[in-house]
Amino acid sequence: MDFTQNISDAKLFSAKDLVVVLTGGGSGIGAAFASALAQSSARKVYILGRRLPSLQATASTINALPGLAGPDPVVVPVQCDVTDRESAAAAAQRVHDDAGGYADVLINNAGVTGPKHTAVYGAQSLADVQVILQSNADGWPATFATNTAAVVGVAAAFLPLLDAANRRRGWEPGKLEPGAKPRGRGLPRAEGVEDADVRTSQIITVASIAAFNRYVTAGLAYSSSKAGAVHIGKTLATMLAPWGIRSNVLCPGIFPSQMTEGAPTEFPADKIPSGRQGSFEDLAAYLLYLVGKGGSYVNGSVQLVDGGRLSMHPATY
Ligand SMILES: NC(=O)c1ccc[n+]([C@@H]2O[C@H](COP(=O)([O-])OP(=O)(O)OC[C@H]3O[C@@H](n4cnc5c(N)ncnc54)[C@H](OP(=O)(O)O)[C@@H]3O)[C@@H](O)[C@H]2O)c1
Repeated sequence: MDFTQNISDAKLFSAKDLVVVLTGGGSGIGAAFASALAQSSARKVYILGRRLPSLQATASTINALPGLAGPDPVVVPVQCDVTDRESAAAAAQRVHDDAGGYADVLINNAGVTGPKHTAVYGAQSLADVQVILQSNADGWPATFATNTAAVVGVAAAFLPLLDAANRRRGWEPGKLEPGAKPRGRGLPRAEGVEDADVRTSQIITVASIAAFNRYVTAGLAYSSSKAGAVHIGKTLATMLAPWGIRSNVLCPGIFPSQMTEGAPTEFPADKIPSGRQGSFEDLAAYLLYLVGKGGSYVNGSVQLVDGGRLSMHPATY
């Protein structure tokens, strides 16, 4: 290992020239990710969600930031319901046509809270516990459809674009059988793709620390749907390894968003050792590492960013 070679932040932690598709990009964590990517010189960031006005407002705000204003906006709103297979296919087609047939990164970030069960901790009788656990049962399927099944559906819809991104980077196509030599890089590389940039395309799934938390802070449907999302993210890394596509999972703690509206901004150390909600910079740094050249060796990983919150709860991981 040549430890004398030059390193620079800009080289390792940058979204420069990437085409990124980001579900749930109209608000909260998704909007923060879109801004971080655009400010880090991504070529295009397609933000997907059901509410077009919210996507448009977020895209306009980011596209007007210093250094980003121009005739060809970086952040592009695409209306899409991630739980609907046809809607996901239409979004993939739209990105294909607009971006030139490829996407380097897909971020599965869309999510919903689902039925809450936190009242169970204040229950004074088992009958009350029973009522709380049985309440809003009809909210479970929608929670799993968005937080869990859509991770698979949207990933499947974008596979051809993720594969095309690898070809563009010079990686040879096809499935590698067990024991085969590593994938060759013999294809002509697109202009601007450097020799030393050995990244392959990537799916990032935003799950949650709720996936591991045995103290329910939202609802059982949320926690278990996020545990499912973590498992799917890990499984995709194994399933797609022969095809040269990576998959990683992010598990945030508490960050400001529509989902966490009304949550305290400060916490005692026995709740969150960092004493606060996460910030925009916490999210940006976390994502730019994963999508940058510095993250090219990361595959099948699950990463927490929670200020230590999970350490203060009974958890499984
Ligand atoms: N904020 C936190 O503290 C926290 C912590 C851990 C994990 N997370 C996860 O982070 C992700 C982002 O959440 P957030 O906190 O930023 O909350 P948020 O502001 O409510 O964002 C959720 C986004 O998902 C989109 N969405 C929901 N259902 C959708 C569907 N069927 N199709 C397309 N888009 C859909 C929403 O847009 P539309 O309603 O317009 O569709 C919205 O933009 C979620 O997966 C959440 O579980 C958040």
